[in-house]
Amino acid sequence: MQIMLLGLPGAGKGTQAAKIQERYGIPHISTGDMFRAAIAAGTPLGLEVQDYLNSGKLVPDELTIRVVRDRLEQPDAKDGFLLDGFPRTLQQADALQKLLSELERNLNAVLYLHVPQNILMDRLTGRRICRQCGATYHLVMNPPKVEGTCDVCGGELYQRADDTPEAVKTRLEQYAQTAPLVDYYQSQGVLYTFDGLLTIDHLFEQIVNTLDKLRK
Ligand code: AP5
Repeated sequence: MQIMLLGLPGAGKGTQAAKIQERYGIPHISTGDMFRAAIAAGTPLGLEVQDYLNSGKLVPDELTIRVVRDRLEQPDAKDGFLLDGFPRTLQQADALQKLLSELERNLNAVLYLHVPQNILMDRLTGRRICRQCGATYHLVMNPPKVEGTCDVCGGELYQRADDTPEAVKTRLEQYAQTAPLVDYYQSQGVLYTFDGLLTIDHLFEQIVNTLDKLRK
C-alpha cells in the first residue's frame, strides 16, 4: 500500500497515521517528524530547517524533496509507505510522481481529512505530545489520564514550538500552497475525502473500510 494523508495543519493526520501504521505495518513517513528529529539532534539539516519550522513557514521544496527521496529509497519503504505532510506544494507533488515512476510504483490512495479551518487554532494550541514515544493528546478533546504524563509509556508531555497562536496562524496561511493538491489528486482518481470532525476512532473506522476495499 502506498498511501498519503492530506489535510490542514491539525486535521488529524499524525493521529490517524499512528493507527494506520499499527494496523497495516507500513512505515509512517512524516516530513515534519523527520525535520523535528533533525533539529533535536542538531544535524546540519536540523540547523537549516529550524527557523522555518519554528515560525510555521514551509521548508524550501528542493530540500524537502531531497529528504523524501532518501527516505523512500530505504529498504523498509519498498513494500509500502504512508506519507504524512508530503507533498505540500504542486512542485513537491510533481517531484513525488517522478520519483515513484522511477521506482516503478504509484500512489494507491490520498486520504484527505477535511476540517473547517476555524476549529484548528484550538486543536493545535491544545495539543500535547509525548517526549518519549510521540503519542499525541489534546488537553480537552483527548486528554491523558494523568495531566502532563503519557498514558502509553509514562513519558513527559510537551507542546510543539510551532503550536503557539502566532506560528499556527502562519501555518494556516501557508496551507494556500497545499490546497491545490486536492484537485490535483482528485483529477488522478486517487482522492478519498473523510470528515475530520468525526471522533478519532470513528474516522479511523472509515479509513480502514476504504483501505480494506482497496486492498481486495
Ligand atoms: P507537520 O509536522 O507536517 O505539521 P502539520 O501539517 O502542521 O500537521 P500537524 O502535525 O500539526 O497536525 P496533524 O494533522 O498531524 O494533527 P494531529 O493528528 O497531531 O509540519 C510541521 C512543519 O514542518 C511545517 O510547518 C513546515 O515548516 C515543515 N514541513 C513539513 N513537511 C513539509 C513539506 N512537505 N514541505 C515544506 N515544509 C514542510 O492532531 C492535532 C490535535 O487534534 C491533537 O491534539 C489531536 O489529539 C487532536 N485531534 C486529532 N484528530 C482529532 C479528532 N478527530 N477529533 C478531535 N481531536 C482530534
